Amino acid sequence: MNQNNFLEEMRDFSNYFSSNLVKRLIVYDELPSTNAKGKVLARSGAEEGTVILARIQKKGRGRFERVWASPAGGVYLSIVLRPKQPLRNASLLTLIGALAVSKTIGHFGVSSKIKWPNDVRINEKKVAGILLETETDNKETFYVVLGIGVNLNIDNAQLPKELRNEATSLLWELGTSIDYKEFLQQLFSDLETNYSMFQNGYFDVILDEWKTHSDTIGKKVKILSQTGEIVGIAHDIDENGFLIVTTDNNKRKKIFSGDCIYLK
Ligand code: BTN
Repeated sequence: MNQNNFLEEMRDFSNYFSSNLVKRLIVYDELPSTNAKGKVLARSGAEEGTVILARIQKKGRGRFERVWASPAGGVYLSIVLRPKQPLRNASLLTLIGALAVSKTIGHFGVSSKIKWPNDVRINEKKVAGILLETETDNKETFYVVLGIGVNLNIDNAQLPKELRNEATSLLWELGTSIDYKEFLQQLFSDLETNYSMFQNGYFDVILDEWKTHSDTIGKKVKILSQTGEIVGIAHDIDENGFLIVTTDNNKRKKIFSGDCIYLK
């Protein structure tokens, strides 16, 4: 889709898509980052369910300020959420985003696995990532901007060379492209289901489903976090979405955030 087609098709899509979650769809041809835009809008009061979508991002960001390559053909969106759950449960939203993407990919006939907390992978190559940014407002409530990037109809050559061995796209996996609007509609619907379970406090249902989509539990892992490195067996995930690792000297560590590397 080129620039003109994209904006036209998205205008058309915003007239017919159905979602109880997505209240407003704001579409750009090009943005530095949909998450950056989402935060600006959220700070000025954007309602829950505001989605910012871009055909291309020039400064797409991943976790730990990494670059998220965002050429045409991928899905780049951010959704503003104003959860009624307490802040301590917010990191579950990363898992919810990854679960929704993994389910959506499944609807198109491809099986994917989630690597805690946010990588969606096909045959051990990353196809999608989630960037959750949380801010509190002056009413002492909080909001989040949940950013989702999916390598949908992206060709190998469109990604930076250094990523080509560790990333994949649905186009490469299927050998054919997926309809962007159909994918978006399915993703909105999977997000809506998961988010409504979160809002209603069904954390155990979410976590059970997350576990069936993840290949992290049971693996030997190395976690790189701000406080250092932890090696052990990924034992479980707790009700807040923290990873529980049993280290070699039999200590249980709860990990809030970090980079997870699978060890052989
Ligand atoms: C990661 O795997 O590190 C997270 C990647 C998240 C990328 C998405 S693309 C849409 C949104 N806008 C951004 O700048 N980042 C997220």
